[in-house]
Amino acid sequence: MESILRALREARELTPRYIGIVVTSVLIAATALLTPYLTKLATDEVVAQVGGAGTRVAPLVWIAVGLLAVELANTLLSNMGGYLGDTMSMRLRAILSSRYYNKLLGLPQRYFDTQLTGTIINRLHRSIIELTQFLASFSNNFFPTLITVVAVLIIAGFYYWPLAVLLFIVYPLFTWLTMLTSRRWQRLEGEKNVQLDLAGGRFAEAIGQIRVVKSFVRERDELTRFDDHYRRTVATTHEQSRWWHLMDLARRGSINVIFFAIYVIIFLRTAGGEFTLGDMVMLLQLMAMARTPVMMMSYLVDASQHAIAGTRSYFEVMDELPEPRAAIGEVRSPDLDAEPATGPTGAFVADVASARPIAALAFSGSTPAFEFDHVSFGYGDHDVLRDITFAAAPGERIALVSESGGGKTTLVNLLLGLYEPDAGTVRVGGVDVAALPLEQVRGAVGVVFQDASLFSGTIAENITYGRPGASHDVMIEAARRANAHDFIARLADSYDAEIGERGIKLSGGQKQRIAVARAMLKDAPILVLDEATSSLDSRSERLVQAGLEELMADRTSLVIAHRLSTISAVDRIITLRDGRIDEVGSPDELAATDGIYAELLALQASNTKRDRKRLQRYDITG
Ligand SMILES: Nc1ncnc2c1ncn2[C@@H]1O[C@H](COP(=O)(O)OP(=O)(O)OP(=O)(O)O)[C@@H](O)[C@H]1O
Ligand SMILES: [Mg+2]
Repeated sequence: MESILRALREARELTPRYIGIVVTSVLIAATALLTPYLTKLATDEVVAQVGGAGTRVAPLVWIAVGLLAVELANTLLSNMGGYLGDTMSMRLRAILSSRYYNKLLGLPQRYFDTQLTGTIINRLHRSIIELTQFLASFSNNFFPTLITVVAVLIIAGFYYWPLAVLLFIVYPLFTWLTMLTSRRWQRLEGEKNVQLDLAGGRFAEAIGQIRVVKSFVRERDELTRFDDHYRRTVATTHEQSRWWHLMDLARRGSINVIFFAIYVIIFLRTAGGEFTLGDMVMLLQLMAMARTPVMMMSYLVDASQHAIAGTRSYFEVMDELPEPRAAIGEVRSPDLDAEPATGPTGAFVADVASARPIAALAFSGSTPAFEFDHVSFGYGDHDVLRDITFAAAPGERIALVSESGGGKTTLVNLLLGLYEPDAGTVRVGGVDVAALPLEQVRGAVGVVFQDASLFSGTIAENITYGRPGASHDVMIEAARRANAHDFIARLADSYDAEIGERGIKLSGGQKQRIAVARAMLKDAPILVLDEATSSLDSRSERLVQAGLEELMADRTSLVIAHRLSTISAVDRIITLRDGRIDEVGSPDELAATDGIYAELLALQASNTKRDRKRLQRYDITG
């Protein structure tokens, strides 16, 4: 229950709407209660006229007019309530979804290392749907139900008190039995959700990498795996539903017995003359109305169990600790009445005027552009980097060389503040990364990632991702320098070509050149190239390399390359071995030692099979 209240607090701005729904539904219940009273009047009038002399039309018509008025009011109010309910649910869904996304965007990289994308999406979907459904039915039903119950109890008590006593027993009894039922039900629901999340997670992953699935001919196995999760869910549902319905038999059975007693009383007292025929008609209608709240209670308890289970996993995410100094800041509710900032398809329309500029880091002349100071780091138990110390002078080009898995990308992750070092300090512009707003750190570093990591959308959107609102000319200039302009110009839609999910419609080398153009446009003082040219052929690589040279000219760069030719053009090479810095020196200096770089040069010169194989471990070519 707590979690539902918390969800309501998260969407505090909906309170007026919520109250509006409650008020209309109370009025609906009130008008509904008038109907049995009017039928009683009609029955008594009809009985009197049948027994008496002749038909008097007027009073009967007036009662019918009364019924019409009550029903019209009821219809009007229901529709108003429906409108309020629809818009409130959607707003609630928008607010909760936005806050969830907002939260996720601010979570540390580490969180995403352990979560499947599909699971995250599934969880969002389920918890929010269930919560909004519950709140909608709660606001639509709870208060009217309460009013109906109270009114029926009072009226029944007025006519004959034992009726009220019997009715009075029904509600707590039913609610108590429902609570008993729901505890076990909820545990099983949790088990089901785990399976559904796993299925959803794998589903999204497999569809996202459908090419791999197809090429390894694993479609059947993926499907089997998916089916297994659902099979378990079905088995759990059998157990869950059996339990629920067995208990329901007990619950509703006992209610039936109590209503049996009520009906006997009403029939006998009418036959005995204590109740008029009109009284009986009204009481029977009221009893029918009293049954609905009983069912409604159980439905609400049921829906609230769903909602509680759903919101719990929602709040598990909301309670995760955000990245310290997260660029996205505090979780906020969206302004749902503002003008949309994107086109109808979601294409981002840059609003340069209102874009908040990132406060640029000040780089003073002689402080190192970035610096690792006795940094140690491991993702889990085993260390990946140990006691790394080096500083990059402004304008310097540094190359990192290690075996595959040696920690080069990890070093970049630390520089970007994606992870915090276990020991030591990473500084950018002379300031500890752990003390800077992350947007400043990341704003100062342009990265071409090891995998191109593009987004669906147009080429233009992708190139300008780091600088929305950049002019067309500036964008084309970046593409030209990344040697991407020619191939883009040949596409039917040129810069407006849609590239598919993660850029699936482009070749590896094309993606990489877009990623280079994207980093060029960001124009950050520090440049990181994590195997930026790895999927280019030698000719394109030379062309992109020319662009990169230009890009590196007036900035500090960290280059992770797999071609010795690229590495040989840097100022300093740092080699890593077993997580430690092995050697530091200019290409010429290192060529003269017996370290990794010298070994690589020798291996490259050699043509033996063994040496080639050894070279492969470094993923290095000539
Ligand atoms: N997110 C992660 N969680 C846990 N371990 C990780 C994670 N990322 C990398 N590792 C591990 O850390 C080590 C260093 O990985 P890293 O990606 O830094 O290597 P690399 O030098 O960039 O290798 P390559 O040349 O193949 O790109 C590897 O053993 C890898 O398994
Ligand atoms: Mg790497």
